[in-house]
Amino acid sequence: MKLQGKAAIVTGAGSGMGRAIAVLYAQEGAKVAVVDINQAAVDAVVAEIKQAGGEATGIVANMALKDDVERMVQTTASTYGSVDILVNNAGVMDNFTPVGDVTDELWERLMNINLNGPFWACRAAINIMKDQSDGGVIVNNASVGGLFGTRGGAAYVASKHALIGLTKNIASTYGREGGNIRANAIAPGGVNTNIQTTITAPHPLGMAAIGDAGPGKLAEPVEIARVALFLGSNDSSFVNGDVIKADGGWTAR
Ligand SMILES: NC(=O)c1ccc[n+]([C@@H]2O[C@H](COP(=O)([O-])OP(=O)(O)OC[C@H]3O[C@@H](n4cnc5c(N)ncnc54)[C@H](O)[C@@H]3O)[C@@H](O)[C@H]2O)c1
Repeated sequence: MKLQGKAAIVTGAGSGMGRAIAVLYAQEGAKVAVVDINQAAVDAVVAEIKQAGGEATGIVANMALKDDVERMVQTTASTYGSVDILVNNAGVMDNFTPVGDVTDELWERLMNINLNGPFWACRAAINIMKDQSDGGVIVNNASVGGLFGTRGGAAYVASKHALIGLTKNIASTYGREGGNIRANAIAPGGVNTNIQTTITAPHPLGMAAIGDAGPGKLAEPVEIARVALFLGSNDSSFVNGDVIKADGGWTAR
């Protein structure tokens, strides 16, 4: 087992990639804090992990609220005695809205959930990890929208680019010399999750910018969870500050 005894936080673990990561991490021996805004989803994933013989605790938290995020990290530390892995996965999309049509409300929602939440979580976790003998590992689920300009709207693309920048800064600051903390990001392409159902009214200008370069066949969440397992485990011990693009070749075209 690749994560035996590790305490891992997975945000947005009630659905999609977060659920798949939480389940896979538990199968690999991690004690998993299953975090989501959706209580019923948290309960279902905790039950699924426990039924399979794994260890999990549910935490209902809104990543857009600093107090919730700090409580999430503290609860994990007090429940399991350490915070070894933080997976910032929770995120929302923006209907590919171009900047001219982005409302303040949309911008703030995307920045709070996709960027501020992960920042608050990283800050709280790092201040625990840096005093642990084994340090810690951070895995940030970004997007190809964090590497290219047209795989989301303005707020989504800006939030995911910033999340990748935050990841690189943490890696270069807190790597081998600064506390033995590794931080890497994943940039998935299209993945078969509930987020697809939130694209209710894609903006024509945002869609025109993508043109006919759609993602093609979608990944299943477990295909991204396996990347998160690699980055969360010692298999990636010398990988730090990197972004693993997992898009089935979408952006290679
Ligand atoms: N699905 C894709 O095509 C795709 C591609 C690239 C990147 N991503 C990224 O992957 C991550 C996971 O997305 P998914 O596709 O699995 O989506 P999903 O909608 O299936 O799951 C997201 C989960 O996050 C939770 N969540 C939403 N807002 C929250 C908040 N404020 N606080 C706590 N939890 C919250 C939801 O309740 C849900 O359970 C996101 O960051 C997303 O941007 C998705």
